[in-house]
Amino acid sequence: MDPQSTLPVAIRLTNVKKHFKDRDVEALDGIDLEVAQGEFLSLIGPSGSGKSTLLELMGDIGDEGGPSDGEILIEEKTPQELRQARGYGIVFQDSTLFPWYRVFENCLLPFRIAKTKLRKEGQVKRIESLLEMVGLDRKFWSYYPKELSGGMNQRVLIAQALAGNPRLLVADEPTTALDVTIQAQIIELLGRLRQQLGMAILLITHNLGIVGDVADQVAVMYAGQIVETAPARELLQRPLHPYTRALMNSVPGLDADADRLTAIPGAVPRLGAFPPGCRFAPRCPIAKAECSEKIPELLEVEPGRFVRCPFWKNE
Ligand SMILES: Nc1ncnc2c1ncn2[C@@H]1O[C@H](COP(=O)(O)OP(=O)(O)OP(=O)(O)O)[C@@H](O)[C@H]1O
Ligand SMILES: [Mg+2]
Repeated sequence: MDPQSTLPVAIRLTNVKKHFKDRDVEALDGIDLEVAQGEFLSLIGPSGSGKSTLLELMGDIGDEGGPSDGEILIEEKTPQELRQARGYGIVFQDSTLFPWYRVFENCLLPFRIAKTKLRKEGQVKRIESLLEMVGLDRKFWSYYPKELSGGMNQRVLIAQALAGNPRLLVADEPTTALDVTIQAQIIELLGRLRQQLGMAILLITHNLGIVGDVADQVAVMYAGQIVETAPARELLQRPLHPYTRALMNSVPGLDADADRLTAIPGAVPRLGAFPPGCRFAPRCPIAKAECSEKIPELLEVEPGRFVRCPFWKNE
């Protein structure tokens, strides 16, 4: 969250940990994160870093319940308390529409589940305006999900998540099925909806190129920890953590000179096999011996910029 912000907090995670008992592994290790009301925060990080696990905890789903430690508060309430109240909308990475219901019926489902007081005409009006807002042409409203493209399905899922008029939308971008251009359109749509509806957004995305244009803040995850948080534009212009820097150099589209793209050597450590000390150290170009001894803290190194690396200044 922007430290200068005086807005109330939409979501606050304090030292959240997630231990999967069956595999005896720690998938999340002390996550601290805040999104202010009306703010757009984007969460990025490699596959397996724990992004969806975090989102599932916020949605109070998953096989093994809530966090193993720490606290998640959404508008000062726990996800369990909010589940009934529908105070927030959530789109999971593997969210799908019900295939045997048409688009419009799919969007009406949240009202049925939540046993809303809104009368039927009100529900229909709300869904009509949401489907218009997400840019789905009226002719598709009577289609079945399988008759729509992946991008259209995603638009309907967003409309569905917004049915209860939430002040916070949490969304995990699908990693498959949508190409980068369509993903960019969906992210732009979220940016517009956030302005129109004045809600906060927490979006997991791999699309770094577009994030700087729509998100206020970015948090970068690596191996179950947050390694950097910063205002979006600042992070993209001047990444500070060695992982974020390496990531920027390996993403096409941010830098016109594709020849300079370099893959990050090595692989993301497997869950359960995290190295001691800094989890990025084995791949880090500026790692020192001490990096493998102690996990560095996430510290504010410049106003509003948090980095989990004591050597972030070194090239
Ligand atoms: N229910 C579970 N039981 C055991 N391990 C799990 C469970 N859910 C997720 N994991 C493991 O936790 C780690 C983090 O997974 P997660 O799905 O959160 O990653 P992610 O950052 O969302 O990746 P992607 O970008 O591929 O979606 C992975 O190693 C995954 O195998
Ligand atoms: Mg995921």
